[in-house]
Amino acid sequence: MDSTALFDIRGQVAIVTGASSGLGRIMAAGLAGAGCTVVLAARREPRLRALHDEIAAAGGRSLVVPCDVRDPGHADLLVNAALGEGRLDGVILNAGVGTGSPAENEDLARFHEVMEVNVAAVMRLASACAREMIPRGGGWMITLSSILGKRAGTGMGVAAYTASKGAIEQLTRELARQWAPHHIRVNALAPGYFPTDMNAPMVAGEGRLEAMISRIPLGRPGEPHDIAGVAVFLASRAGGYITGQSIGLDGGMSAW
Ligand SMILES: NC(=O)c1ccc[n+]([C@@H]2O[C@H](COP(=O)([O-])OP(=O)(O)OC[C@H]3O[C@@H](n4cnc5c(N)ncnc54)[C@H](OP(=O)(O)O)[C@@H]3O)[C@@H](O)[C@H]2O)c1
Repeated sequence: MDSTALFDIRGQVAIVTGASSGLGRIMAAGLAGAGCTVVLAARREPRLRALHDEIAAAGGRSLVVPCDVRDPGHADLLVNAALGEGRLDGVILNAGVGTGSPAENEDLARFHEVMEVNVAAVMRLASACAREMIPRGGGWMITLSSILGKRAGTGMGVAAYTASKGAIEQLTRELARQWAPHHIRVNALAPGYFPTDMNAPMVAGEGRLEAMISRIPLGRPGEPHDIAGVAVFLASRAGGYITGQSIGLDGGMSAW
């Protein structure tokens, strides 16, 4: 068996939301580096353009499509951008936000906004992608859960975020079940701690980074290669029998 061919995603076209920073940027670059054309989506266009140039310099192909996932029109915009490349194979539904506040003082407007970006927008884009993938015979989707989709936080006040990621865990299973007959695989990634803009405030302050790392059995934060390769794997034939799963990328944090 040619095992290398199992991981070959050259010629695929995929959408990545939240490609302007953090994990979305890493996964978009990872897919592009493996020969997939990537539709780069987020609000901050200059950051998308910088990634586009980086991908082009490395010999890859991407499209910059600035959008706000709270805008209902974003789903068709992104799907049409992919179809302009001739096909739509996959989507990484990665854009996300969080809040930090004691639950008794939770701002309900912010709570709704987190649910809108982290859950409703995921549903909207996943549905739009499925409407294209069903007639063409299949595809793949990756949602972003979190270790906080499975467990409570450590007391920092992340009710909106944990609620949204718990919803993603269950939405992922439901979409996987509904679309399995159409050969669309839907899986979640559940990262523990990868240093990004989003969680920088959580580790700011004396001893907090060390406290975070002390809870990770592998003894280190996640690094780009720890997530980029998993995205390529799930996009490839090698991941072809995996659907409805939430894959912990947490250095063992959720194992004990
Ligand atoms: N880092 C971790 O350790 C970790 C752990 C568990 C789960 N996650 C999940 O991983 C995903 C990425 O997070 P990250 O850590 O990489 O955070 P990040 O660096 O803050 O990235 C968040 C991304 O989401 C985009 N985004 C936010 N609101 C948007 C909107 N309304 N419309 C379009 N794009 C929007 C941002 O782009 P613009 O601001 O340019 O729009 C940005 O590219 C999130 O779903 C997060 O919950 C991360």
